[in-house]
Amino acid sequence: MLTAHALIRIRRIGPDDGPVLRDLRLRSLAESPEAFGQQVDDAATQSDAEWAAAARVASQGERRAWFIAEAVGGAAGLPRTLGLVLGRRRPPDTLMIFSMWVDPAARRTGLGARLIATAETWARTWGGRSSVLWVFAGNEPAIRFYDRIGFSVHSDGEDARTGAAYGALAMSRSIGPAGSAG
Ligand SMILES: CC(C)(COP(=O)(O)OP(=O)(O)OC[C@H]1O[C@@H](n2cnc3c(N)ncnc32)[C@H](O)[C@@H]1OP(=O)(O)O)[C@@H](O)C(=O)NCCC(=O)NCCS
Repeated sequence: MLTAHALIRIRRIGPDDGPVLRDLRLRSLAESPEAFGQQVDDAATQSDAEWAAAARVASQGERRAWFIAEAVGGAAGLPRTLGLVLGRRRPPDTLMIFSMWVDPAARRTGLGARLIATAETWARTWGGRSSVLWVFAGNEPAIRFYDRIGFSVHSDGEDARTGAAYGALAMSRSIGPAGSAG
């Protein structure tokens, strides 16, 4: 279990973080296979070069950014990396959120909310005004999580139709000014 003294920082992925990305993605797909559209066996076939490229392109610029949560300061018993999320810009001003995952050892400590807030801080740099994601309709814990942090379900519109085709709900929240709760 997470200790109160565990320091967790969230940072944008670096250009050399291909192995870190691979490890986190494979852990998330293995731990929560029902939450994502990709299978762990499929992801495991990606080459090191592909993971390296994925990390590199997401390490700078406005198109996409992975954010990674890490334990710092020697939190006993915790994995060093604890969660991740991918943000992608849909021009002009929408942040698309994908691949959200928090290690079970760090859940219900506010880390998921922090990961989304960090992606939104990045989105503000390019004028992001709303966050949109898809969540499988049967993933009730995640739906409750998004609902709790201010996302609401879209019942119509293009995103709702896109999600429905995959049995997923589209959810969104507006990105408030810096310093707001979201
Ligand atoms: C969904 C997920 C990212 C939430 O991460 P987290 O770090 O535990 O979330 P937080 O601690 O920031 O939760 C904030 C609030 O959301 C709500 N919440 C979070 N998880 C919840 C759950 N399992 N059941 C009910 N409410 C939940 C709570 O109100 C919580 O606040 P509280 O603990 O003070 O009551 C995490 O459970 C996870 O990785 N799940 C598996 C992968 C997944 O489903 N990803 C989403 C794909 S769309």
